[in-house]
Amino acid sequence: MALTSSAARPYHIIIFGASGFTGQFVVEEVARTSAEGPRGAVRWALAGRSRAKLDKVLEQASEALGKPELKSEVDIIVADVGEPDSLAAMCKQGVIVLNCVGPYRFYGEAVVKACVENGAHCIDICGEPQFLEGMQLNYHSQAADKGVYIVGSCGFDSIPADLGVLYTRDQFKGTLTAVESFLTASTGPEGGCIHDGTWQSAIYGFADSGKLRSLRKKFDHKPLPVVGAKIKRRSALFFSDEIQQYSVPFMGADPSVVKRTQRFLAEEHNKTPVQYGAYAGIGGITSVIKLLFAGMMFWFLVKFSFGRNLLIKFPEFFSFGFFSKEGPTRKQLEGSSFRFAFFGEGYTEGQDPSQGKPNAKIRTLVQGPEPGYVATPIAMVQAAITMLNEPNSLPKKGGVYTPGAAFANTTIIDRLNNHGIQFSVLEVS
Ligand SMILES: NC(=O)c1ccc[n+]([C@@H]2O[C@H](COP(=O)([O-])OP(=O)(O)OC[C@H]3O[C@@H](n4cnc5c(N)ncnc54)[C@H](OP(=O)(O)O)[C@@H]3O)[C@@H](O)[C@H]2O)c1
Repeated sequence: MALTSSAARPYHIIIFGASGFTGQFVVEEVARTSAEGPRGAVRWALAGRSRAKLDKVLEQASEALGKPELKSEVDIIVADVGEPDSLAAMCKQGVIVLNCVGPYRFYGEAVVKACVENGAHCIDICGEPQFLEGMQLNYHSQAADKGVYIVGSCGFDSIPADLGVLYTRDQFKGTLTAVESFLTASTGPEGGCIHDGTWQSAIYGFADSGKLRSLRKKFDHKPLPVVGAKIKRRSALFFSDEIQQYSVPFMGADPSVVKRTQRFLAEEHNKTPVQYGAYAGIGGITSVIKLLFAGMMFWFLVKFSFGRNLLIKFPEFFSFGFFSKEGPTRKQLEGSSFRFAFFGEGYTEGQDPSQGKPNAKIRTLVQGPEPGYVATPIAMVQAAITMLNEPNSLPKKGGVYTPGAAFANTTIIDRLNNHGIQFSVLEVS
């Protein structure tokens, strides 16, 4: 499918789920960057199931950005996940749908299907491996036949991790064979939290995590070859010398997404697969105690429907204030940030990775603003801007792709650097 608008397909970008907590910030990010589209202008529209709510979103965006013209210039499309005809009508009008409607396990497939059938490309900010891998299994070949690109996990899950590994590989002189990433997030004096939408996605994702294994069997993949020394798995809780705080394995979509990218690049482009371990810093001993307590309660309650209902009803209580129904305030967003530190190792040029230990290391960093509602809209919108401006650098055929697979040959990292998600090399040794 073409990546240009036309009389029949008037919008470059349609933001579906614009009335959601994240949707609002995606709308504002598109409004901020609309001059970066092909020939200097993105034509865009908002979509969702309530016109009244979408009107309000535009009003709020106009106020926040001081752009009163948005209210008259940006169109509104009414579409509901439960009404396939409305989704089809929406998809026929757009080049790319930015899908912000989650949890994706409940609402995402209908949108992917409508995009594939009606020739719209789709970008989402899903952090649910089961949905992302399920879409690849069920829609990759149809999307390829139609020339449609479906690119999942283009938010904080998993653009920094997936592109961070590719950046580290590209900066390494030789063969990079393994990377560990350590994520830390910080808040300002006002504190911070994550909106309930992500909490619900996590609850249903963990409740159903057993199904991921059987889904993966259906791919019938050969194991990815391990090149170089095998990466060591860390324990469930450890003190990290790298970031000087207690850390745990990262529970989000990043390991799944990075592995899928590495498989794609190895199988389709003959690149050496990079082994990957993802960890998150949790802080000092008080945070460890809180996390253990909250984690045990979560694991217990998430297994039963009454427990899930309790978790959904009282997000603040069960997450020690980490998640809330109201979401963070704009002040809290301003004071928050993230750092993704990557520790890579490999073999310098001329060294054989099948012989002996790695002889070189690299340390890189991806850092940026508040992850959920500042960095995520930036990453999602830059993914769309990249697609629109660099169609010839995408994979040759359409399909269901990870961000790394879709954008490995584009300038997306430069674009992210220009928008406050910064990639840098800290040390090579
Ligand atoms: N990757 C990341 O780092 C990241 C960051 C932020 C969010 N997310 C993900 O983004 C998703 C949204 O999160 P959120 O906090 O923004 O959630 P939210 O505030 O609950 O927003 C959900 C949106 O979905 C819409 N929706 C629900 N059912 C619909 C239907 N049948 N038809 C059409 N629209 C429907 C809602 O419309 P109404 O307003 O009409 O109810 C709303 O616009 C979640 O899956 C979350 O995990 C990911």
